Amino acid sequence: MIELGDNMAKKKKKKLKLKKKNFAIFLLCITLIIGSISYGIYILSSPHAKKTKEMNNTKEEIKLQQLNHIEKKIDYFNNDYLDRYIDYKNKNKDLSIKDIIIEVNIGLDNDYYTNTKETPYLNKSYILVNKYNYLPEDYVPKNLEPISEEYARSGMQLVNYAKEAFESLATDAKKDGMTIVAMSSYRSYQYQENLYNRYVQEDGKEAADTYSGRPGFSEHQSGLAVDVYNGEKDYTDFEETEEFEWMQENAYKYGFILRFPKEKTKQTGYQYESWHYRYVGKEIATYIHEKKISYEEYYVTKIENQQYEKTTNKT
Ligand code: DAL
Ligand code: ZN
Repeated sequence: MIELGDNMAKKKKKKLKLKKKNFAIFLLCITLIIGSISYGIYILSSPHAKKTKEMNNTKEEIKLQQLNHIEKKIDYFNNDYLDRYIDYKNKNKDLSIKDIIIEVNIGLDNDYYTNTKETPYLNKSYILVNKYNYLPEDYVPKNLEPISEEYARSGMQLVNYAKEAFESLATDAKKDGMTIVAMSSYRSYQYQENLYNRYVQEDGKEAADTYSGRPGFSEHQSGLAVDVYNGEKDYTDFEETEEFEWMQENAYKYGFILRFPKEKTKQTGYQYESWHYRYVGKEIATYIHEKKISYEEYYVTKIENQQYEKTTNKT
């Protein structure tokens, strides 16, 4: 009996000891947590931290001043690019601040084909494909359809809504006595790869890059681009035809833009191509036609970072 009583007393003592130990650990943890928080608050509010924060704010303010505080006037200013804007401004003294912002947003402070990214908005009519924005190798647009052979060489395809728009355009052009024929439209990654490699062999890489997209970087793979000719003259002479004039006056009404204009070679990264048209939809095409801007300019000021997708229900 006495032994049993002893054992129970021992057990109780042990339990008490354990409880005390746990309590001590608990107290230690609480002290550590409170200590860390207090130290953090102390560091953050210390004169040194305040000074560093102030200095950073001042540095940013100086940069924004150098850019004439344009961020207050335009909604496509990207604060993450602040240092890039300043560097580009220092290297391009003749450019306006607005052009600095637009060109850096396009990516022009980096060489073509550097700092590239997979383009967002796959299967959207406002997708951007250029020397900074590429399509995945296995990307095939949805809803490709053949263009009527009345207006195209055989086997030409476009995304259904671009095809409809192109056929309307060619039909109305015909009513005005014009012949518009699609001679190249959707091109797969592999097709573009062969084409580009052939051009490189013929002309060298530097020259090929001025007129041919590298595989993945050609908007022909988007199924929204079409090269035209008038059924007679070589497509490279399209500019000399009355069909070209007709396209200049009317293409936007059907949602198409001249994608590589003469005055925009720096922004687009390609030589002037009077024959290459891109479907972007009537609204965007009309805006671009009126403002005489490139699609790159439109995209970085109106679509990118503007949550365009969320505010519109465009395809
Ligand atoms: N000729 C145009 C630039 C292309 O290859 O996509
Ligand atoms: Zn083309």
